[in-house]
Amino acid sequence: MEKKDNVFLMLVTAVAALGGLLFGFDTAVISGTVPFIRSYFALDDIALGWAVSSLLIGCIGGVLASGKPADLLGRRMTLLAAAFLFFVSAVGSALSEHLSTFIVFRFIGGLAVGTASMLSPMYITEISPAARRGSLVSLNQLAIVIGILAAFFSNYMLVSTGDDNWRWMLSVMGVPAVLFFAALLFVPESPRWLAQKHRKAEAFAILQRINGTALATAEMASIEASLERDEKGSYTEVFSKRMAPILWIGIVAAVFQQITGINSIMYYAPMIFAKTGIGLDSAFMQTIAVGGINFLFTLVAIRWIDRIGRKPLLIAGTAGMIVSLFALTAAFYFERFEGYLVLGCVLLYIASFAASLGPVTWVVIAEIFPNRLRSEAMSVAIMVLWGACFLVSLTFPYMLNVLGGGAAFLVFGIMCVLNLVFILLKVPETKGRSLEELEKMLLKH
Ligand code: BGC
Repeated sequence: MEKKDNVFLMLVTAVAALGGLLFGFDTAVISGTVPFIRSYFALDDIALGWAVSSLLIGCIGGVLASGKPADLLGRRMTLLAAAFLFFVSAVGSALSEHLSTFIVFRFIGGLAVGTASMLSPMYITEISPAARRGSLVSLNQLAIVIGILAAFFSNYMLVSTGDDNWRWMLSVMGVPAVLFFAALLFVPESPRWLAQKHRKAEAFAILQRINGTALATAEMASIEASLERDEKGSYTEVFSKRMAPILWIGIVAAVFQQITGINSIMYYAPMIFAKTGIGLDSAFMQTIAVGGINFLFTLVAIRWIDRIGRKPLLIAGTAGMIVSLFALTAAFYFERFEGYLVLGCVLLYIASFAASLGPVTWVVIAEIFPNRLRSEAMSVAIMVLWGACFLVSLTFPYMLNVLGGGAAFLVFGIMCVLNLVFILLKVPETKGRSLEELEKMLLKH
């Protein structure tokens, strides 16, 4: 029996997934600070939108900027830089005295989130055995969700700490950032990157530890074969006519993950619940319920994604999102906030997203592109994803306060209907097929 170091693989994956955890924490922590930074910096709706969204512009920059260092310095070094930026952003935003400094430090946090959103899945993909790649990529989404939950929870614990409560909420992230940095010092480089840099012995040693000698030898051979072709991958080719149909699927899936409104709830949940007339404290409790449901239903997706496939999950989840959004539209339109109606609708919406668009979008974006162009094509799709995320979170406070919750949720509901049509007509079922089979199936020759 060949020795495979499973514990090592799980530890290394967990360290990389800390990037996902910080991604989740940093994007969600803002929601608990909204009422307090609004009054501290005296923000109107548009200024608040900027304070919340500045991180997301940084994310776009992070995705753009991390490709080159990831190739030149390595995946691990680039993730180390992200961990450092996470720390700087936590401390800097917590100590901010002016809106402009606050925005700059949140932007720096965004650079870190954007980098982690590319590099953590990339690193996990490159280090994991082919047969387990899918579930390990989904674990990164689970880490994102745990980060979001941790942010909600820590915000809830800190809400009564006085005038500086929002500063404490933001500074908490410094702790996992330091942990991420320290843990990264102990993980190896990606074997695929090492092979690219002609450090083949080191690459082989890592592959051997994870896969055993026989598989490692085969894997090494296919990495070398793919690297020969890798050198020819370019953005010109990503935007070529031949790639266009798949690139569009990746881009449209990324846009729909965001314009169906998930982050209006993730970032502004207390504001939505407060509109229904319940107190801020229980609004925070309900926000934690949102995080808990998000976590549980991501587990549902992880369990079913390789059994029933991507498409049935996407279809069922989108249908659930449509029902809950139209019910929310009606509740806000007729101002019927009694009982737990709004909370129930919001939780159904989150559960539906968590079991479908949440993880499956990342999996599909990672699967549909050919090996050779994966990193370039993924970066285009992920950049668009952050762009769409930015637009939604910038405009949502305005939509909620000026047009009303009814109109905001109606728009998201209509986007979900369009997304359902897109899924039914355009998204390919990728379950159970090897990446090479997918390449043949999706890329017309
Ligand atoms: C999305 C994030 C979102 C999170 C919620 C992720 O897949 O990309 O924008 O905040 O899921 O769970």
